Amino acid sequence: MASHVKVTIPASTANLGPGFDCLGLALGLFNTVEMWVWEGPATQPLSIEVVGEGAGQILEDERNLILRAVSRVFEKVGSPVPPVCVRATNGIPLGSGMGSSAAAAVGGLVAANALIDGRLSRKEIMRLAYEIEGHPDNAAPAIFGGLVIVSATGDELITQTVDVPPFQVAIALPNIRLSTAEARAVLPPLVPLEDAVFNIGRAALVVKAQPYRRRLFSVYDEVVVAARKAGAAAVALSGAGPSLVAFAADGHESIAKAMGEAIEKAGLDARTFVLPVDRQGVRVSVAG
Ligand code: HSE
Repeated sequence: MASHVKVTIPASTANLGPGFDCLGLALGLFNTVEMWVWEGPATQPLSIEVVGEGAGQILEDERNLILRAVSRVFEKVGSPVPPVCVRATNGIPLGSGMGSSAAAAVGGLVAANALIDGRLSRKEIMRLAYEIEGHPDNAAPAIFGGLVIVSATGDELITQTVDVPPFQVAIALPNIRLSTAEARAVLPPLVPLEDAVFNIGRAALVVKAQPYRRRLFSVYDEVVVAARKAGAAAVALSGAGPSLVAFAADGHESIAKAMGEAIEKAGLDARTFVLPVDRQGVRVSVAG
């Protein structure tokens, strides 16, 4: 068994507009999870320290997502959980729609799997991440990198990576707190056939369409207008939001700036990012 592993996990933007729960793109902004197996007697089997984004807000007890993911790996392989200590260094803003919870789950799963010499395949890790997250479209790009199409129905989980050239996206994150669960709660369980057909067409084209959640984000329309005026080809909520992601061939800095200014004009603080696509996905180094 390895005694120290380090895992680097990319952020991700999910849905890409119409590809609800089916499309995800990995982004060049990262969390790391370092894991050590304790030597000597352990009074508390699992412990975690969080630094960076979310430090002080993220639970550091057995309810912690990374620790739950670690336990899940050992449960899956039928081994007792060894005493491990974890340091999570977060670059992905929490609750932003940029895949911070998927990064935590994937980080815990992949690090624990590295400790047991990679006994679980990436496919099995993907299945566990999906079970933890409840939707697969952030975990899939976090694991595989790049643009991923994922279809999850019942027991069947199909992932397909799409070869994409290097490109960037502009992201604006308003200072709004909204959980994925809240953003999922406003979605209707059934959609009219006409809307479904429209969305399938748009998903194939990967443009934009997410009408139900728009009302959760007071600044949505202004940000879309500002981004388009600044040259964006398409704008969408990033995952469940509240961040918005803009796609363009160039001019990402000015698009991000315009989006941030539109949010600030509406009286909210904003953070902006210009991020490259991460084409590699989660990476692991085993230190000893
Ligand atoms: N597909 C998920 C949702 C992504 O939109 O609820 C959450 O980041």
